[in-house]
This record gives sequence, C-alpha cells and structure tokens, in this order.
Amino acid sequence: MTQLDTLPFSYFKEILPALFGGFPGASKTPSAHELAKLILPPDQIADTKTYVRLRSGIAELLSNLNLQNKRVIFPSFACHSVTKAAEKIGARITRLPYPLTAAKLKKIDLSKVSAVFVVHAFGIPADGQKSNMEEIAKLCREHKIILIEDCAHSLDYPQVGAWGDYALFHFTKRLANLHGGLVISKKKKLKNDPQANSRFPIKDFIRLILQTATLRLTLNFVRKRQGLHTETSAAHQIPKSGYKSTHPFARRLFKIELKRHQQESKIRENLRKKYLEKLPSNWTPLCKDHKVDTLQFPVVTPKNLCRDKTLLKLRKRGIMANRIWYNTDDPIAKKILVLPLHASMTKKDVEKICQSLPE
Ligand SMILES: Cc1ncc(COP(=O)(O)O)c(C=O)c1O
Repeated sequence: MTQLDTLPFSYFKEILPALFGGFPGASKTPSAHELAKLILPPDQIADTKTYVRLRSGIAELLSNLNLQNKRVIFPSFACHSVTKAAEKIGARITRLPYPLTAAKLKKIDLSKVSAVFVVHAFGIPADGQKSNMEEIAKLCREHKIILIEDCAHSLDYPQVGAWGDYALFHFTKRLANLHGGLVISKKKKLKNDPQANSRFPIKDFIRLILQTATLRLTLNFVRKRQGLHTETSAAHQIPKSGYKSTHPFARRLFKIELKRHQQESKIRENLRKKYLEKLPSNWTPLCKDHKVDTLQFPVVTPKNLCRDKTLLKLRKRGIMANRIWYNTDDPIAKKILVLPLHASMTKKDVEKICQSLPE
C-alpha cells in the first residue's frame, strides 16, 4: 500500500524556488493581500495580516474588536489554542456542543453576546449544511453580533469563509509549510501590525523536511509501535514568536502549494466518493457530501468500539489514521477518527482502509 501520509520526494522541487526567493529567476515573496486574493474574491478583502501562529492573529483580532470582558460563543469541539487566545485577552467564553447550529444559538440570550466564533472543523461548514451557516449569519446580523469564521481546515471559499465579518485561514493544516495563519477582514481595517519576520525559522524548517518521504517513513515506523501521545496545555499557549508575521519563505511556499492543492482537488473528490461507497455501514462519515473538500476523512466510530484502541490497531497495520481535539470535553471528541486522504493515495488504498475497519 502507498505510504499514506508522506510527501513525495518531488516536493523538494517545490521547496527550492520558495527557499531561494529573492534570487534572480526565483519566486517573489507575495504580500498577505496577494495570498488572500488567491482564496477570496478581491471585493471580500478589506485588510489582511499573516502571523506565525494563527492563535496570535486570533488574540490580536479579538483584542482589536474590544472583546475584553465581552461574551463570545465558541464550539466546544475546537482546538484549545483558539479558546486560550480568547481567554488571554479576557473574553468571556460560552461553549456550545458540536455541531454549532442556529437553533442552539437561539436558546441563548443573544443580547448579551458580542461575537460568535465558528470553527469549520475538517472544512465542513458548521454542521455540514451551508443553509445552517446562512441562518447563523442572519442571526448575527439581526443582533449586531460579530461573526468570525475559522477556516483553518479548508482553503475552499465559498464552501467556508463566505458568511463572516472575518475569515481565518491556515498555512499548514491543508498544505505543507513552515507555519502561518492568515487573518482576513471583510469590511474594516485591522489595527495591529505583526512584526516583520526576518530570522530563518530553523525548527519549523526541520519539521517540514521530516514530512517528506524517507524521514516520515522512519517516523511512522516509530508511531506504529508507540502508544498515543497526550497533548500538554503548553502546546496551546501563544509563543512569543507567534506575534510575528509569517516568514517570507512560508508566504512563497504557500502560493506554490496552494496551486498544487487546487490542481489535486478532483483526486481528493474521487477518494472521498470511494470512502462513502466502501465505508462499513456502522461507521458514520462526518460529511456525506463528496464535494466538500474535507481535511482527510473524519468518521464517527461505532458505539461498540473504542476509538483509541481502533486507532492503534490501524496504525499497527500501517494506516496512519489520527484523532484531533481529543481532550476537549465535547462528546464527539472521543469518537471521531480521522482516516487518511491524500492526493498520493489510490482508490485501492481507500478500499483496503475500509476493509481494515472493524465492524
Ligand atoms: C481550527 C484551528 N484554528 C486555529 C488553530 C491555531 O493555529 P496555530 O497553531 O497556527 O496557532 C488550530 C490549531 O490546531 C486549529 O485547528
């Protein structure tokens, strides 16, 4: 079976022009605005900033919106770093269980709410239906509530990012890159200016190289034999470097990688179709629409099975499935298993993975 979560060696060909940007003949460094225009239509972009860590962009955005001591709604199934950023600036947080729907919002006294922070987990719009997002946006407009969309798992406007006052994207969740997050304001100017970043981020570069074939094979060899690791809360803090703007190399690589990602969308669509066709009936796909370009292929583990034990068994067979946000207190966090989906996979790989899932 193809090694499922490695980047091919040919990837080095893409890194090189980005690495030597600035040299004659090499690629130029795009501005944050140019990158935003690759995702959103120009009339949707009033201002843009890039950050080493998206969580810092979130903290600065919430602070600029004067949300200190104000009520902000978050989904309870979300990366801790996002809510930690809100806590850091002193926002008052209310968490709603996954999926975040307009019906759940209506049960709250919205006159006391200043912002709703939607996380499109796995790139699936809120609860998988665009109509729900339209309702949420309408509610926010009626109550003069700021709507922020976290689209870190997707680069596919208008599937996500079409409804909010602010849209956030990520450089490394869908693409291979050093680091980076993009904050886009639809109507207003953003007040903060992250510091320029000129020091080469060696650690991030090593991590990127580790994602390429041979080294990743070694890493997977170890992962197959290891238990599942537990995240520490330190992993969710904002490091000092986070308030800097992304390194120019990361901006150049984002542009190159985004093009590749877009060219490979049909392959991913066909793989999702195959998953939907072959998934055993007691496993539930989180999104049934094969056109929604999900971050890998999230499924809900059947009630009679332990997600973590199943995950370890799959890894032993060389299937590098995953879990995310597993220590958040949303019930879904203990049940979601993320099956691999990469453009380097074939439909046969998907069939083998589905056959390996216990019933
Ligand atoms: C949906 C989502 N938003 C934001 C973040 C924060 O990104 P960063 O690690 O760049 O701060 C994460 C991190 O995992 C995430 O999953």
